[in-house]
Amino acid sequence: MNVVRKMLFTGLVMAVMTGTAFASGQQGSQDTGKGLIGVVMPTRSEERWIKDGNAVKEGLEKLGYKVNLQFSDDDIPTQTRQIDDMITGGVKALVIASIDGSALSNQLANAAAAKIPIIAYDRLLMQSPNVDYYVSFDNYKVGGQMGDILIRGLKLDQATTAKPVIIELFAGSPDDNNSVGFYQGAMDKLQPYFTKGVLRVPSGQIERTVIGTLRWDASEAQKRMENLLSAYYSGNVVLDGILSPYDPISLSTLEACKAVGYGTTPGKPLPIVGGQDCVIASCKSILAGEQYATVLKDTRSLGAATVTLVDTLMQGRTPNGLDTQSYNNGAKIVPSLLLDSVIVTKDNLISAVVDTGYHTAAELGL
Ligand code: GAL
Repeated sequence: MNVVRKMLFTGLVMAVMTGTAFASGQQGSQDTGKGLIGVVMPTRSEERWIKDGNAVKEGLEKLGYKVNLQFSDDDIPTQTRQIDDMITGGVKALVIASIDGSALSNQLANAAAAKIPIIAYDRLLMQSPNVDYYVSFDNYKVGGQMGDILIRGLKLDQATTAKPVIIELFAGSPDDNNSVGFYQGAMDKLQPYFTKGVLRVPSGQIERTVIGTLRWDASEAQKRMENLLSAYYSGNVVLDGILSPYDPISLSTLEACKAVGYGTTPGKPLPIVGGQDCVIASCKSILAGEQYATVLKDTRSLGAATVTLVDTLMQGRTPNGLDTQSYNNGAKIVPSLLLDSVIVTKDNLISAVVDTGYHTAAELGL
């Protein structure tokens, strides 16, 4: 983590702990009235967004706000309608985790015209000047952790050109700007090993646009993995690892490998696979020695940071200490608050996930 980001993160933790985040730089009149806040999450079918939505809602309600929380079923017209309704319903601020980051420009323009501040949550809202803040994790660093997982799990530092390590690559949804950071962060870590010739991708499918998974759909990734295995791995070639940007993709690509004998055939161990989001099924898989690792992005911290930001804005204050360099959405640089994430393997899963209460022992079947 670079120094600026480390300072931002440290500041955030202190702010969340003390409840005084962004407290300086007051401006304008003090509107301390507690209003209605609109919160839109992309889908209810993925574990994390339910946690995210609930964390933001509960945090805001504790401070006395009313919250209209909606999930958009991964359907863009549903999301645009929900935001339209929130604007006409008189929300005082909008927190939006988009489906397609570029699909909401009209809604954002209408919100801006009504002087409703807009916070892009986890996923950056793209191609619009009407985005006030971005609260997320450091997506490039998360990608770097995905790369580190493979470097460590595949022992890439010991690999030789005589026996290169074999992997295939998967990326996130092409319409989600986060996919760019995850991919770039991971590839910057892996590139030296490609250059040395100790790491190979037999399919040659390397570009983000080629390896993307629309809407992060695990079954689409599973089909692509099946196709890769039958097209490039029919001889003696054994897949050693998979770059996965998301836990359900990790699990579905592992399933495709199991279906052709990985994990049960001598000389074909399950490939090393990382992931992201620390979903319950992946935690169980990690404890069972199947998925190798994941990246924990604690939705509680993201929720708390968002609540503090909304409250700051509602009090008429100006947030400070934000990153004003990293995230250009194509129309402006969006001031960003970027949190830190943690690699989770079998070794630290209990301390990082269960002891912190992110998942309970019972949820993990322990
Ligand atoms: C990304 C998010 C990831 C993962 C993925 C699929 O935008 O940053 O953590 O949740 O969406 O939902």
